[in-house]
Amino acid sequence: MKLENGIQQPGFLLALRFLALVLWSFPGARALDNGLAMTPTMGWLHWERFMCNVDCQEEPDSCISEKLFMQMAELMDSDGWKDVGYEYLCIDDCWMAPKRDSKGRLQADPKRFPGGIQGLANYVHSKGLKLGIYADVGNKTCAGFPGSFGYYDIDAQTFADWGVDLLKFDGCHCDSMEHLENGYKHMSLALNRTGRSIVYSCEWPLYMWPFRKPNYTEIRQYCNHWRNFDDVYDSWQSIKNILDWTSSNQRRIIDVAGPGGWNDPDMLVIGNFGLSWDQQVTQMALWAIMAAPLLMSNDLRHISPQAKALLQDKDVIAINQDPLGKQGYRLRKEDNIEVWERPLSDLAWAVAMVNLQEIGGPRFYTISIASLGQGMACIPDCIITQLLPVKRKLGFYQWTSDLKIQINPTGTVLLRLAAN
Ligand code: GLA
Repeated sequence: MKLENGIQQPGFLLALRFLALVLWSFPGARALDNGLAMTPTMGWLHWERFMCNVDCQEEPDSCISEKLFMQMAELMDSDGWKDVGYEYLCIDDCWMAPKRDSKGRLQADPKRFPGGIQGLANYVHSKGLKLGIYADVGNKTCAGFPGSFGYYDIDAQTFADWGVDLLKFDGCHCDSMEHLENGYKHMSLALNRTGRSIVYSCEWPLYMWPFRKPNYTEIRQYCNHWRNFDDVYDSWQSIKNILDWTSSNQRRIIDVAGPGGWNDPDMLVIGNFGLSWDQQVTQMALWAIMAAPLLMSNDLRHISPQAKALLQDKDVIAINQDPLGKQGYRLRKEDNIEVWERPLSDLAWAVAMVNLQEIGGPRFYTISIASLGQGMACIPDCIITQLLPVKRKLGFYQWTSDLKIQINPTGTVLLRLAAN
C-alpha cells in the first residue's frame, strides 16, 4: 500500500475512519424497551443537598416539601436550566407519610405535601418539566419509610396515576439477593404495564456487588440507569473514589452503556460547599466523559454564577449527551495525571486530562496525538478545542504532533478533537 502517495492516503484513511464509525456504532446489549433515556437523564435530585430534612417548622426553606420542589421547578424554568436540558425534577427519600392508605397505596406526608404528589406533578408539568419520585425495592426505604416489597404493582400504578415521569428505586432493607433481583425486575415490568413513560433508575448493582458480580447485560434490559457505587458526598475524596471505582471496573461496565441504559456515578454536587473550582470542573468534565446522568443536587436559589455557568456549559453538555452514546474510559495514568477519552459521533473524540497531584501548582503535560482515540482521533489531522476550564481554540494538529497542556492541581482540561 503506497501510503506515501498523496492521493491514496486520504481515501484509505477515510475508509478507516468510516470502518471505525461502523464498529463503534454497533449497539451493545439490548436496552430496556421503553424508548426513554436515549441520552443520559438530566435534571435535579434532592438527596445530596437536602437529605432527609423533615422539620418544616424549624427549617421551612430546606425541608423536603412541595414548596422546595415548586421553587426548584420555577428556577429550572426561569434560570435557563430547562433550556440546556435539565428536565427531570426528582424527589428522593423522605417524601412519604409513615403509613400506606386504607387501599395500600403510598401517600405523601400531608403536612409537607398538602397538594399531594399529583398536585406537584401538575405544577412541574406546567413548567415544561418532568417529575421524578423515589421508592425502595425492600421492606423500608433507606430512611425508614414504607418500602414497596409486596406492593410493586400498586406502587407502579399509583405513580402512573399521579403523573410521575421517573422512579428512583433504592435497594435498602431487602432480605435476600433473590428479592432484590426479582423486585427490580418486577417493578420494571409493572411500570411498563401502566403504559406511562417512566424512566426507571435502579441501584440494583450497588446492592449486589457485596454478594456477587452483577449481570449488567440483564440489568440493562430492565433499567434506564443504575448506580454501581457509594453515594456521592460533597467532597473531593468522594469524587476521587467514584472515578477510581469506575476506572478500576471499566472493562466490566462501559460496553453495556448506551442509548436507553447508563451507568450512574451519582449526583453532580457542583454549586455546593465541598469542591474547589478546579474540582467542580473535574466533576463536570468526567461526568461528561462517563456518559453519566446529570442530576444536580444543589440549591438553585443560591448558586454562584461560576457554578451555574459550568453546569450550563452547552459544549460540555453536548459531550455528555452525544447521540453515539458510548461511555468513555481511562486511557492511562502516569505520574498522577489521568487521561480519559470518549468517542463521539462524527468521529470526534473528547479527551479529559486530570491532575491528581495535590501539591504544587499547575503542571504541564505532553501527550502524543497519535496515542489518542485508538490512534484515530486525529487522522490525518484535526482541530482541537479546549472546553474546560475555559473555552479556547487550540488549533490545527497533525497525527504526528504532540499536545502540551497545563492542568491545575485537582483540575481537568477537557478537549474536543474533531475532523478538520
Ligand atoms: C441510599 C441511596 C441514596 C439516597 C438515600 C436515601 O443511600 O443510595 O442515593 O437515595 O438512600 O435514603
